[in-house]
Amino acid sequence: MPKTRSQKKRLRKFYLKTFGCQMNYSDSERLETVLESLNLKKSEVMEDADIVLLNTCSIKQHAEDRVYGFVHNAKKAKKLVGLTGCMVKKSSTQKDEEHDPLLKKHETIDLVFRIEDLPKVPDLLQKYDPKLKRPEYEFDTEDYFHISPKLQENFRAFVPIMTGCDKFCTYCVVPFTRGRERSRPFRDIVKECKNHVANGVKEITLVGQNVNAYFLDDSKKKMLQKQTDFAVLLEKVAEIPKLKRLKFTSPHPRHMGNDVLQVIARNENISRSIHLPVQSGSSSVLQKMGRDYRIEKFKEITKRARELIPGVTLTTDIIVGFSGETEEDFQKTLKLFDEEQFLMAYISKYSPRKGTFAGEKMPDDISRKEKKRRLDIANEKLKKTALHENKRAVGTREYALIESVNAKNIATGKTEFGRTAMVPVGKKGKRFIGEIVPVKITEADTWVVRGELL
Ligand code: 5AD
Ligand code: SF4
Repeated sequence: MPKTRSQKKRLRKFYLKTFGCQMNYSDSERLETVLESLNLKKSEVMEDADIVLLNTCSIKQHAEDRVYGFVHNAKKAKKLVGLTGCMVKKSSTQKDEEHDPLLKKHETIDLVFRIEDLPKVPDLLQKYDPKLKRPEYEFDTEDYFHISPKLQENFRAFVPIMTGCDKFCTYCVVPFTRGRERSRPFRDIVKECKNHVANGVKEITLVGQNVNAYFLDDSKKKMLQKQTDFAVLLEKVAEIPKLKRLKFTSPHPRHMGNDVLQVIARNENISRSIHLPVQSGSSSVLQKMGRDYRIEKFKEITKRARELIPGVTLTTDIIVGFSGETEEDFQKTLKLFDEEQFLMAYISKYSPRKGTFAGEKMPDDISRKEKKRRLDIANEKLKKTALHENKRAVGTREYALIESVNAKNIATGKTEFGRTAMVPVGKKGKRFIGEIVPVKITEADTWVVRGELL
């Protein structure tokens, strides 16, 4: 019998907090299905819950610190605390404390489980509440993706297509937390997407740590195709009738071939905004990061994207202050902003991670102050490029998928070019939530465009 730190108690309500990327959000939707199968009710506030579950991220130290802050508050409120997601590393779903470094180290955490072990969660929770209802059916223990997600919104869905990463960029902990690349079967993905569309979903985002490293399981299809596996999958999903919008995140520049760009170009329901993480504008930093491409290659891809997809916008990820990044290297990143005019960039200060090549073998030699300075400068630069990109749209028509309507009856949604559009919709505006509406863009700000409904 495993040692349980908390007293046994009746579990009625859960509170689930998700940190990190869209993959985690997608996993949380599957976790919710499992929890509801146990008759546990979702609580919107932590205070009302008996068990607090955290789906964690460990990409940067800051992300882990946020999780620990949350654990501390949950424990103070005397909740049972469970962790899953990327902080639960190679330690398997908890069997006993000796086997799990997280449990061993943190008295405040009651249980941990790998997300792949989601089907075992009913058994795990039963140990805390033996009276917990059994699910009506057994979950497939071989593949947690077979558990259907409980969508948070009825108009859009995230569909995982692969997980893990084999790239081992020197700064990145993902290959250690998520493990090696593993692609889902083609048929399962297409079936899940078709189901969503049949249930009224308008927008699907295909998610994975490295979506364009997707590996097709169907050898017949492989023989017929001249495209990369991801291009084949993307097109197949885009062709689902009534799917209004298709996005994907994140691709790796190394696998971003013409074929993917051509699929986007010929399928109008695929988003005209491409997220392509570049990390740095300096080839020498890219080499130290183990990114496997020179900056010229990135520029070639974006040039082709612009040629093939009129009006395309680009977003990216940047790390500043990586080991050995000189002022000259940093200036190259700023120059890249000028050349590429990113609509959005997620800019991070380098955070050394234990177990990664850079974390173990390369000096963290840029001071905190200097990292912060570079971050601030890069963010200022981004404001300029974002405004530039938004201004480009003034006077044109774009289609926004409305996500929310505020008290002043202003609706907000994302357009097919990735811009955040705000439009007045009148008193009964809530009916537009989940709808795609044409917007005439009249004004541009840094982070939004404004306009009117057409
Ligand atoms: N430090 C800072 N940023 C990081 N990222 C990944 N690992 C680190 C790290 N150790 C950023 C990269 C990646 C994004 C998901 O997080 O920019 O693309
Ligand atoms: Fe991390 Fe690099 Fe893999 Fe992206 S490609 S998940 S940055 S190792």
